[in-house]
Amino acid sequence: MQTAVIDDFVSRVRDNSDILTVASRYVSFVRKGNRYWACCPFHSEKTPSFTVDPLKGFYHCFGCGAGGNVFKFIAEMEHISYFDAVKLQAKRLNIPIPTDRQRSVAEIESEREEKSLYEVNELARNFFHNCLMLTPYGKPALEYLAARGISDEIIKDFKIGYAPNDWDKLATAFVKRGTSTKQLLNAGLVGTRARDGGVYDRFRNRVMIPIVDQTGHVLAFGGRILDSSDGDAPKYLNSPETKIFNKRRVLFGLDRAASAITREGFAIVVEGYMDAISLVANGIKNVVATLGTAFTLEHARILNRHSRRIIFCYDSDEAGQRATMRALPIITDVGAQASVIIIPDGKDPDDFVRKHGSDAFQALAADAMPMIDYRIKYVLEHVDHRTLDGKINALREILSAIAKMHDSALRNEYSRKLASALDLDPNTVNSEWKNLSLNRASNASTGRVVKINTVRAEAQNDAAWRSWRTLIRAGWHATDLLQHALTSIPKEEFPKLHREIVTYIEKCIEEERRPDDISAARELSDEALAELSECLVGASDELTTEEVQAYMDSLKVLRLELLGNQYRQLMNELEKHQRGSPEFAAILSEAQRVKGELDFKKC
Ligand code: UTP
Ligand code: MN
Repeated sequence: MQTAVIDDFVSRVRDNSDILTVASRYVSFVRKGNRYWACCPFHSEKTPSFTVDPLKGFYHCFGCGAGGNVFKFIAEMEHISYFDAVKLQAKRLNIPIPTDRQRSVAEIESEREEKSLYEVNELARNFFHNCLMLTPYGKPALEYLAARGISDEIIKDFKIGYAPNDWDKLATAFVKRGTSTKQLLNAGLVGTRARDGGVYDRFRNRVMIPIVDQTGHVLAFGGRILDSSDGDAPKYLNSPETKIFNKRRVLFGLDRAASAITREGFAIVVEGYMDAISLVANGIKNVVATLGTAFTLEHARILNRHSRRIIFCYDSDEAGQRATMRALPIITDVGAQASVIIIPDGKDPDDFVRKHGSDAFQALAADAMPMIDYRIKYVLEHVDHRTLDGKINALREILSAIAKMHDSALRNEYSRKLASALDLDPNTVNSEWKNLSLNRASNASTGRVVKINTVRAEAQNDAAWRSWRTLIRAGWHATDLLQHALTSIPKEEFPKLHREIVTYIEKCIEEERRPDDISAARELSDEALAELSECLVGASDELTTEEVQAYMDSLKVLRLELLGNQYRQLMNELEKHQRGSPEFAAILSEAQRVKGELDFKKC
């Protein structure tokens, strides 16, 4: 593409972008004079030092020094490249992205197909909406929605629609207007009849909910049947997955919830889009829904860009609780904080908010249960813990989650809670969970069930193990120390878990990034992560002189142990050879070299 064309495009997008509007999607501003202030989205703070200057089009944080123009802001917030930020903003503003003559035929075809899907879905959204609002077919659906407490305003806002109870209303109308059946098939709006190869409408007699992405494109539909007793038809029917619709990556309602999520400082995740719509109808706007799939890592990553606090509010039935339990660790994996709203009566958030109103729901949200508490509660309710065996089982279930916590004070607090919940001595719990992470270390490769085994734990808790931890701690904070350590202790000599952590830190060095909790949580196994948090317990953010000294001492201890082992091995080897043979001489000389370093190190 010609540079002039790109330059033109970029300036056009920039001229149409207002930094205040863009940034307000992510943070909430207070005006002081002619400047707008907010808490910085790039570092954690309680008093606002982040400001935008709408006239100049720049943002700046006096706290962390972040700053730049509107595209840099989007790039940083969305974790995308600068040019992708320009393109995202262009999409939001409906400014066409200039095409590149050099693109391959396949790329052009693929983009054309996407565009066609967006277009046909957009037409379908209007068709369904008009059927609901303007035609007599829509009457039962309007009544159904009214009975569910969904006002006309919300219907218009979400552009909710109705698919008539007919086999070809949509197909006929669309083909007449020039949409090809191929386009309809691609979008999943029609299916093929086996009998004669003709097509039929996929959605019939359903309330139609458009699923929209953050740039406002219609990706797909969800259709709710009007009458649940309607034979074998599923209650909900979604568009099939298409080139533009991947359920694992889409959160219903995020397009409209994003700014509310930023404003409120947390996102609420519900299971059904009717729950989301119902909460919005009741004034709770920071809510998104999954689309009949489990909560995925992609979902977590997307949400984490908008808020670090995520509250699950799934159905209160068994399936909802299980789904919550599965979703929680995914939130931890992306470094966000999870909590859970438990609906006290009624099945789901929709039931609750309609029965008790939004204040009652807000109160539940304010009272959301921290993740660990929820896990404790769940396990206590689902594992029989009357016997000692049962207690240990329950203990193990929860300890793996507690072991991942980096804050030692919190960990202790939870250990105490757990002790009292299981009616165990706090010290027992405390030492058991230490054993657990150590035992997991040694059992990691075999995947054997963890045995509570104090003897082994004590053996591993010895000076050597502490020294390895000191090395890792130093290497975490100062990667050059780790590189230094590796010059005297080869990586293969590190215990398995520590070796995994070293590999991770080496990778960070190679990729010129700092090791951090979030990427560690993503890249390390559970066992290595638990061990890493053990290594970092009680450490300050930066290495103190004492810690550097401790590092030197530990390195010496470990090097001595390594040399001692080598020396013993060489001496064993020596016995197998004839005195005076060339092998004997070679081994002896190597043994003497090792002994020399040993003696030197010891003094
Ligand atoms: P629920 O069965 O909990 O429905 O399904 P709901 O949200 O309470 O719906 P109402 O209140 O009865 O209308 C939750 C989600 O699971 C998916 C849908 O995405 C739904 O929103 N689902 C459910 C399906 O995809 N197909 C089904 O047949 C049922
Ligand atoms: Mn419901």
